[in-house]
Amino acid sequence: MNILVTGGAGYIGSHTVRKLQAAGHRIAVLDNLSYGHRSAVPADVPFYQTDLLDTDGIETILRQEKTEAVMHFAALISVGESVKKPLLYYRNNTAGAMSLLEAMQRAGIKRFVFSSTAATYGEPEETPIFETAPQQPINPYGRSKWYVEQILRDIAAADSGFGFVAFRYFNVAGAAEDGSIGEDHQPETHLIPLVLFAAMGKRDKITVFGTDYPTPDGTCIRDYVHVDDLADAHVLGIESLRAGEAKFYNLGIGRGYSVREILDAAARATGRVIPADYGLRREGDPARLFADSGKVQRELGWKPKHTDPEEVIVSAWKWHTSHPDGYGK
Ligand code: UFG
Repeated sequence: MNILVTGGAGYIGSHTVRKLQAAGHRIAVLDNLSYGHRSAVPADVPFYQTDLLDTDGIETILRQEKTEAVMHFAALISVGESVKKPLLYYRNNTAGAMSLLEAMQRAGIKRFVFSSTAATYGEPEETPIFETAPQQPINPYGRSKWYVEQILRDIAAADSGFGFVAFRYFNVAGAAEDGSIGEDHQPETHLIPLVLFAAMGKRDKITVFGTDYPTPDGTCIRDYVHVDDLADAHVLGIESLRAGEAKFYNLGIGRGYSVREILDAAARATGRVIPADYGLRREGDPARLFADSGKVQRELGWKPKHTDPEEVIVSAWKWHTSHPDGYGK
C-alpha cells in the first residue's frame, strides 16, 4: 500500500515507518521538522517538509505519491505547554488534522490511522481503562485529540467509503532494537529518558513527582508500551482497515508500573545508581492510568512483545548511550 506518514520524522512516526517498510509498504513522509529529525527518516523514503495547515500542498503530495492511506502522527504532545498555549494546540492538532482530512477528501483517499491518546480519558473513574470509559479530557492537549476523534466519527457517518482507526496511546517508551533511532524530544519531559539521563550523568538527578498518591508505593502508576510494539499495532491496523469502519483501540500493555518501579527497573537495566529525589506532585497527573488492551489483542491479533519495563528501558539505554546528544543539532 502507498502510505503517507505525517510526523514520520518524530519518535513514534519514525519507528512506524520502519515497520511499515518491513511489511512491504511504500512510504512517503510529511513533517514540518518543528520537532522531528530529518535523519530519523530512511534515505530511500520521499520526504516533504510541509506543514499540516498547507491543505493545497498536501493534496498535491497525496496525488503525486498515489497515496492510498494516511497515518497521522504529526502533533504537539506536551500537556503542560497545552495548558499555557491552548490555541497553539487546537491549531496544530485539531485544525492540522482537519486540513489533512480535507486534502484527503479532495484527493479521494479514504483510509486513515490516527494517533490519539489516553489523555482523552482525563482522570479515569476506574482502571484498567476500557475503550468505552467516559472521555473527559482535563487539558487542551487531550481535548485537541478528542475533537479529532469526534470529527472522524462524523466523516465516517457522512461517507460510508471512509474508514479509520484511532489508537489511544498510553506511555510510549523504548527504542528500535538496533539502537539506530529512538526518543529525542526538545525539551525532554518523559520519565524514562529523564531517568536514563540521570543514570548517564547528563543531568544531576531525577525528581519523582509526588509520593502521596493513593497507590501502593505512593507514586503514580502508568502503562509503558514499547514503541516498536506500538508500531506493530499500526501495521495491523492499516492492513485490516475496511471502508466504513470506525475503530478505537487502547494501546498499552494492560499493566501499570509505579514511578518507583520504573526507577528500580532502570537501575537493573543500566547497572547504574539512579540519583533521585522526591518532590511535589506535578499538576494534572492522574494517580493511575493503565489500559485494558483486550480489544486490540482480540480484534487485530496484536500482542506486545515487551511486557517487562526493564526490557523497554534496556532498548532506550542502548539508544541514549550510543546517541548521547540524540540526533544532534
Ligand atoms: N515523572 C516524574 N518525574 C519526571 C517526569 C515524570 O516523577 O521528571 C512521573 C510523572 O509524574 C508520571 C510518570 O512519571 O507519573 C510518567 O510521566 P511522563 O511525563 O513520562 O508521561 P505522562 O504519563 O505524563 O504522559 C503520557 C504522554 C502524554 C499523555 C499522557 C496521558 O506522554 O502525551 O501520558 O496519557 F497525554
